[in-house]
Amino acid sequence: MKFFLDTANLDEIRKGASWGIVDGVTTNPSLIAREGRPLKEQVAAICDIVDGPISAEVLSTETAAMIAEGRELAKIHKNIVVKLPLIKDGIAACAALSKEGIRVNVTLCFSPAQALIAAKAGAYFISPFVGRLDDIGHNGMDLIRQIVAIYENYDFSTQVLAASLRGPTHVIESALAGAQIGTMPLKVMEQLFNHPLTDKGLDQFLKDYGKAFGTQPAAR
Ligand code: G3P
Repeated sequence: MKFFLDTANLDEIRKGASWGIVDGVTTNPSLIAREGRPLKEQVAAICDIVDGPISAEVLSTETAAMIAEGRELAKIHKNIVVKLPLIKDGIAACAALSKEGIRVNVTLCFSPAQALIAAKAGAYFISPFVGRLDDIGHNGMDLIRQIVAIYENYDFSTQVLAASLRGPTHVIESALAGAQIGTMPLKVMEQLFNHPLTDKGLDQFLKDYGKAFGTQPAAR
């Protein structure tokens, strides 16, 4: 499973990248807005930190404008994946950009029917939002399982990018369901490391060695 960071914050991206497990980054207009720098500049800076797919979302909502904007975003860096919302105009733009060889991440997916449409339009990634479905009393993980099954039935090459992941359980269940990618905030990625028995075990190892040879356990 590939791990993407779901943030536009450069410090968070640098920190996650330093752990050696970040394969790409996803952004959206809300995440970019938080950083206070225009979209193109911010995603260019992200491309300088992580060598992997970096999703940059268009702000237009009509097909022709989405295509033009997608082409401009794709010019920023070879790793840019153009992110388009799952509306009719977005799907038409996805079909056109994909035919040109531009990779598209279709976002705001909340149903298997929408995911099927995105795959038919040649999407490179589909982004189903797990947490936002949970928020309204649905089971977001069921959607991941359904999309993986449908794509397998028809050998679609579109990769399932499980998004809106709010905790380690979402990540693990997405991995069990066969999602190719999970995108998550830095906090969730950090939570994946944690186990009290790891900390306890390491403390004991260092204490035992220190007692035998008189060395001080390294400060952690
Ligand atoms: O970037 C899209 C998605 O991951 C947003 O997550 O937590 O705002 O629902 P969230």
